[in-house]
Amino acid sequence: MLDVTAMRDELRAHYDLAPSMELAQAMADTHARMDRVVTMLDWAVHAPYVAAINRLKRERNAVVLAHNYMPPQIYHGIADFVGDSLQLAIRATEVEAPVIVQCGVHFMAETSKILNPAKTVLMPDMGAGCSLAESITAEGIAQMRAQYPGAPVVSYVNTTAEVKAASDICCTSSNAAQIVAAMDSDTVIMTPDKWLAQNVAAQVPQKRVVWWDGACIVHEQFTPQDLRDFRSWHPGLKIIAHPECPPDVVAEADFTGSTSGIQAWVERERPEQVMLVTECSMASNISDSLPEVEFLGPCNMCPYMQMITLEKVLWSLHSMTGAVEVDPAVAEPARRAVQRMIDLSRQLAA
Ligand code: 13P
Ligand code: SF4
Repeated sequence: MLDVTAMRDELRAHYDLAPSMELAQAMADTHARMDRVVTMLDWAVHAPYVAAINRLKRERNAVVLAHNYMPPQIYHGIADFVGDSLQLAIRATEVEAPVIVQCGVHFMAETSKILNPAKTVLMPDMGAGCSLAESITAEGIAQMRAQYPGAPVVSYVNTTAEVKAASDICCTSSNAAQIVAAMDSDTVIMTPDKWLAQNVAAQVPQKRVVWWDGACIVHEQFTPQDLRDFRSWHPGLKIIAHPECPPDVVAEADFTGSTSGIQAWVERERPEQVMLVTECSMASNISDSLPEVEFLGPCNMCPYMQMITLEKVLWSLHSMTGAVEVDPAVAEPARRAVQRMIDLSRQLAA
C-alpha cells in the first residue's frame, strides 16, 4: 500500500511542485488544448507536475499511453498516444521505448505487458480496476464452455490475463460485432459484458449470442428516460452512446460507438448540441478542438479511471514502481487471444 505522505515528501524533495502561474503561462500552448474545461488557476496547479513528468519521460525513455477517459491534464498534458482500447492495444505492439506508463485501468496495462513481455509497463495505481474485469474468472469461462459446448468464447479486453488466456479471441467495443460475425459457429459466447453482448446480438442476427452477466458500473447507470428527458429539454440535441450501455439506452441514441468512434462521429457531424452517454472526461478531452459544439450532461465518472492522477504518474516514473507482471504461462495464451483480435481487425478493415 502506497504511503501517500512519504510519497509526497519524496516528490517535493526532488521536484518543485508548488502551483505556479508563471509556469502555467509559459506552458500556455498545452493549456490551450483544454482551455474550455481547465481554468488557468487549475492549470497553475497541474503545470509543475506536467513539466516534471515530461522531463522524467525523456530521462527514463518512457512513453505514456492514455485512454480517452483520462482527465484533460493527463490526456493533453503528458500522453504520447491517446485512444480507445483497441487503438491502445495496437499502439502497444509498436512502442520502441523500453518503458510504457499506462494511464488507464489495470486490464489495459496488463494487455500492454502481454504484448510486450520484455518491456517495463508501469501502472500508476494498481487499484484502478474495472467492474467488468472483476465480474468473471477463468472458471466462469469454463462454465460457459460446459453450457455451450463447441461455441467459441469472445472476451472483451476488459478482462484479466487469465480470462483472456481461457478465451478464443478478444474484442473491444469498436470491433465486437465484426469479430462475432467472423466466428465459425452459429452460437458465440461473449463475456463479460451482457449489455455489449446484447447490442452485438442485435447487429449480428445470424448468430446466437449468449453472454456472461457482467456490466460496466458507469454505463449501466444511464436510463432511456434520462435520454428522452434531455431530448425534450433540448430539441435538436444529438445523443451518442457507448455500447456498454443497456440496449434500451442505445435504442434512444443517434449513434453508438467506441470512445474513438464517438469522437470521430462528433468531429464529422459537428452537431450544435451533443450529449455523450459515457464517461465525463470523453467530452472534456475533445471539447476544445470542437468550439462550435456544446456538450451537455449527464455524464458519469469512472471511479477506476479517475484513480490515475498526475501525482501518481510522477511517482511511478520517479520510483519506477508499479510494474505490471503477468505469469508467462498465462501471458502466452492471453497474447494469442489479443493478437488474434488485432490480426482479424486489420484483415476486416483491409
Ligand atoms: P473503448 O474501447 O470504447 O475505449 O472503451 C473502453 C472502456 O473501458 C469503456 O468503458
Ligand atoms: Fe470498466 Fe466501465 Fe470504467 Fe470502462 S468505464 S473501465 S468498462 S468500469
